[in-house]
Amino acid sequence: MIKNDLFLRVLNGEATSRPPVWMMRQAGRYLPEYIKIREKYDFFTRCQTPELASEITIQPIRRYGMDAAILFSDILVIPQAMNIEVQMVPNVGPVIPNPVRSLKDLDQVIIPEVNESLGYVFDAIKMTKEKLEGQVPLIGFAGSPWTLLCYIVQGRGSKVFELAKQFCFNEPEAAHLLLDKLTETTIEYLKGKIKAGADVIQLFDSWGGILSPEDYLKYSWPYLNRIIDALEDQVPVIMYGKGCWFAMNEFNKSKASAIGIDWTCAPKTARSLVDSKRVLQGNLDPSYLLSNPTLITNKVNQMIGEFGHQHYIVNLGHGITPKTPLDNVKAFFDTVKNYQALEV
Ligand code: CP3
Repeated sequence: MIKNDLFLRVLNGEATSRPPVWMMRQAGRYLPEYIKIREKYDFFTRCQTPELASEITIQPIRRYGMDAAILFSDILVIPQAMNIEVQMVPNVGPVIPNPVRSLKDLDQVIIPEVNESLGYVFDAIKMTKEKLEGQVPLIGFAGSPWTLLCYIVQGRGSKVFELAKQFCFNEPEAAHLLLDKLTETTIEYLKGKIKAGADVIQLFDSWGGILSPEDYLKYSWPYLNRIIDALEDQVPVIMYGKGCWFAMNEFNKSKASAIGIDWTCAPKTARSLVDSKRVLQGNLDPSYLLSNPTLITNKVNQMIGEFGHQHYIVNLGHGITPKTPLDNVKAFFDTVKNYQALEV
């Protein structure tokens, strides 16, 4: 049983007196207790050791008591399990030493037995659930196949991922084969996460917004929709696409339980693009958390007013940035927890 089930109730379409709140990348570098663990263990050791991953997952809950936990892990554990080497280089980010650039490169890319290669993630979920003692629900996640392709082909982070696009445009057959393998693996992986105890799944299409609407419907959305369909009736799925508001109509028609948006789409615009009881999540610009508690409180109240306090989950529009002051984070969460609706 989950004691604070506000988040789950909203995802199930219920009306509530205040919206639930959590924060993308809440388990991470703005927390001194995370930095302490980071000094001792490298990134993938932190992901692969259930004791560490579960501890890091719970750190923000202990400090702020938000309404949901999100498992500490990374979207790039999927390519790793598919036999693609991924390194996390401090101050650089993810590096793929042998990027996929041709059909031939795909020979080495396997669809893994997830219990073998990703069993450590399932163990981390089980351990986190034990440590949470039912306080709040646990979110599991995966990257969209397109967003994973961006890293696998480009070989590292980028603002434009031009090599990933070049690959899709020059070798569509290879691109679709890679996207298909990623989709199959992601479905099995997420089913494993749910079996291990994840209460909700969020899909991150962090780089969907760099595609044209036409290409989004070719290279990203069909694969995401396949994943959403495969998880139907298991747990609620939140579909987050950064810069993807042009695809809102597709998201709205899908079986996702909620749609996450970034700050480039105004709350009222988002509401006008979806059915009246669609659950929306977002969308404060994370840079506001670098300002001051008074401004943050005002912006959060304004945001809740504009989305409406029902069928809504308060979040940032993307992940929290590393240098965010702790008191500002507190102001963000406290404002939502103290929110008093004029009418329920
Ligand atoms: O949200 C959470 O608190 C859960 C943990 C989480 C991490 N990565 C931990 C992490 C989640 C949900 C992710 C998802 C992720 N990883 C995405 C999609 C979400 C998004 O922000 O767009 C992407 C694109 C990645 C890939 C990735 N991992 C990058 C580009 C980087 C380096 C750049 C950066 O932001 O630091 C990572 C590393 C990473 N993943 C860190 C954390 C806490 C920082 C590394 C460190 O502390 O050493």
